[in-house]
Amino acid sequence: MGLWDKFVVLEGLDGSGTTTQLNRLEEYCREKEIPCYKTFEPSDGFIGLACRAVLEKREKADTLSLAQLFAADRREHLKKIKEKLEAGEWVFCDRYLFSSLAYQSLGMDFDDVYDLNRDFPAPGFCLYVECSVETSAARRGGRGGNEDLYEKEALQRKVSGFYEHAFELFYPEDVKGLYRINGEATADEVFKEIISTLGI
Ligand SMILES: Nc1ncnc2c1ncn2[C@@H]1O[C@H](COP(=O)(O)OP(=O)(O)OP(=O)(O)O)[C@@H](O)[C@H]1O
Ligand SMILES: [Mg+2]
Repeated sequence: MGLWDKFVVLEGLDGSGTTTQLNRLEEYCREKEIPCYKTFEPSDGFIGLACRAVLEKREKADTLSLAQLFAADRREHLKKIKEKLEAGEWVFCDRYLFSSLAYQSLGMDFDDVYDLNRDFPAPGFCLYVECSVETSAARRGGRGGNEDLYEKEALQRKVSGFYEHAFELFYPEDVKGLYRINGEATADEVFKEIISTLGI
């Protein structure tokens, strides 16, 4: 077993249902008494809070500063994640470096975002909750609340392209770890597919 084998990240377009599945995973593990740690990026550490302030338009930062903040948050966050993995727990993380590559590349060169993130470990499971732009937009509409920076349909199409590029780099054909989950299905069905993928 490698250190990152039980590191599970959920990725997907805004509204694809990653947070819904993250919460279900935690609930499921609690019931089954499987030790796990639920977390998210940007994290709730002080750098993560700065990222959120920019995303929510309470603070301003240019695109490079924001990408650097995300990477710095990730570097600190990984210390906690590593600690949990070393203790033998599963770690479930809502968004990870693939989100940086997918979203930050809207405002700067993909390769420059990649340079900031290339040395971070690839998770044992990258669960890509695959959903069409239309479906994820409809779900965001259903949820209500303020549209954040990236929640515009045309942008989501670009994001989806950047995700694919990121997956090619971190999971070339001979590298295991990328799992495409059918996010168009009901939340129950999506969850079943995730559980069977993880084998828990
Ligand atoms: N498989 C599903 N089928 C139908 N509705 C769903 C499904 N999964 C989640 N939803 C609903 O879609 C909305 C968005 O879900 P959720 O917040 O989990 O998405 P998200 O990917 O975390 O979004 P964001 O990236 O904006 O945080 C919620 O109202 C949720 O209840
Ligand atoms: Mg979410």
